[in-house]
Amino acid sequence: MDSTETADSTGIGPKREWWKEAVVYQLYPRSFYDANGDGFGDLPGVEAKLDYLDALGVDVVWLNPVYDSPDADHGYDIRDYRSIMPEYGTMDDFDHVLAGLHDREIKLVMDLVVNHTSDEHEWFRKSRQSRDSDYRDFYIWREGRGDGPGGKGEPPNNWESAFGGPAWTYDERTARYYLHLFDEKQPDLNWDNPEVRERIYDMMDWWLEKGIDGFRMDVIDLISKAEGLPDGDADSGWTGSEHFTSGPRAHEFVAEMYEEVLAGRDVMTVGEMPGATVEEAQRYLGPDGDGLNMVFHFEHVSLDYGETGNRWSIGEWDLAEFKQVLTKWQNGLEGEGWNSVYLGNHDWPRIVSRFGDDGLYRIESAKLLATLLFTLRGTPYVYQGDEIGMTNFPFEREAQVRDVSARNFVERKKADGWERAEILEVVTMRSRDNARTPMQWSDDEYAGFTDGESWIPVNPNYEAVNVADARHKDDSIWHYYRELIDLRHARDVLVYGSYDLLLPDDPDVYAFLRTLGDERVLVVLNFRDGTPTFSLPAEVAFDGTELLVSNYPVDGAKPRSFELRPYEARVYELE
Ligand code: GLC
Ligand code: CA
Repeated sequence: MDSTETADSTGIGPKREWWKEAVVYQLYPRSFYDANGDGFGDLPGVEAKLDYLDALGVDVVWLNPVYDSPDADHGYDIRDYRSIMPEYGTMDDFDHVLAGLHDREIKLVMDLVVNHTSDEHEWFRKSRQSRDSDYRDFYIWREGRGDGPGGKGEPPNNWESAFGGPAWTYDERTARYYLHLFDEKQPDLNWDNPEVRERIYDMMDWWLEKGIDGFRMDVIDLISKAEGLPDGDADSGWTGSEHFTSGPRAHEFVAEMYEEVLAGRDVMTVGEMPGATVEEAQRYLGPDGDGLNMVFHFEHVSLDYGETGNRWSIGEWDLAEFKQVLTKWQNGLEGEGWNSVYLGNHDWPRIVSRFGDDGLYRIESAKLLATLLFTLRGTPYVYQGDEIGMTNFPFEREAQVRDVSARNFVERKKADGWERAEILEVVTMRSRDNARTPMQWSDDEYAGFTDGESWIPVNPNYEAVNVADARHKDDSIWHYYRELIDLRHARDVLVYGSYDLLLPDDPDVYAFLRTLGDERVLVVLNFRDGTPTFSLPAEVAFDGTELLVSNYPVDGAKPRSFELRPYEARVYELE
């Protein structure tokens, strides 16, 4: 394909790129498939299921971290960037997965976790040895403030860890604190040190030389910290975040990484960016910005927080606001920018439990969410298990909680005197564990995920919700995903078409148009269990229509005006 070709005949539309046309599947390997019966998903397990990915029709796999790690944050604490965690297998196993994907014309994007390493990484082990270590400046060390307990003083500032508690841990050996925006086993690298950056770029280069097709960059907007590490606003939700979210040198570093490693390579990049605004995202994106292809912003997945920045506070989720946020991003990244479209991942509850109805309308609402995912403008990311409508896990015991941030939450609330049941109710709604339970392959024991005992409990609904059943039934969520993936591949308008929101204030229905040249598609989504009437605004004229896809049988209905059934989704072509 000519890389300068545009999708519409005018030559002024968006540039064609393979990663804009691709459907990405996010694969969480520890819970995908266990090939050796130790209860832990692994790379041979991925290899065993490559035909499954091929059958679904995805173009890219984003693999969550499989690097050597002591596993404090499920692999987001890397001990060695150039080797594989033994539970996942060997580098040979990795090479087989990569080759097997490429044989099926599926690309592989790796997680790049470089805001921090594990405290067991060689750099940190050397860094903590003495204040004169050659590696000292690889991390962020500071003296305590005042004369607090045992001469330690207080932490250098009031910044908090994303997982709760202070972002600083005191290290006896050199009597200094080190910074960790996440767990204490995840010390932040000092990006101001050019040697750190050079080592990271070398490592990225090493993986690209192996033939991988790009990176998903973990919390990449947090790599630059404000000079002097000033105290943060304690009411901001994440104390300190205004001093490390797109900090003073973040753009300089990302642009440098692009120049040093990515420029001239036909790879895909997506930066995970908590706190990023549209304006900030634009600066990271495209050749006129820092060179990244896409960002993951957090605005639409934070709407149901009760308090700003606190995922554990339960609030209401409002469709009008949801539409407004997504529309802002759809419109805000026209031109050089490009959206990533996601509704959930390994850090969020299951999408059908959060934005749909995981009870009576599980199937309809899972299909509705899929319709949104594949018809917005941007590259869609399917999270493992969503293609069969997997749901949140009904936590009954504290011992079922695995995730470090959820465990910290449980401890905090116990200390606050909360009832166990109350705590578990919030965990069921919000824990990252919800998305991490084993992939449900069949109605066999452990959902066919393992022959052993799974590392995290299997969702008890696996007998009804599983891949074998879904592939067997023509009208399943799985087949609906397949249909939408095929449709997206067949219709440029769904990839490159412009986006126009209809009925912005409608509290129940999300409707929009996609337009590319003389091709036009109308998407109508009822986000409720009621039966609202949809009326197409009079100014939208058309001669004929064709129904492209729907999650209910539709006969003869015309898009001018119709009553929607619970969680009904319809996609029409307007001629
Ligand atoms: C990202 C990851 C999350 C991890 C955190 C720290 O948000 O998606 O799983 O805990 O970064 O690396
Ligand atoms: Ca295993």
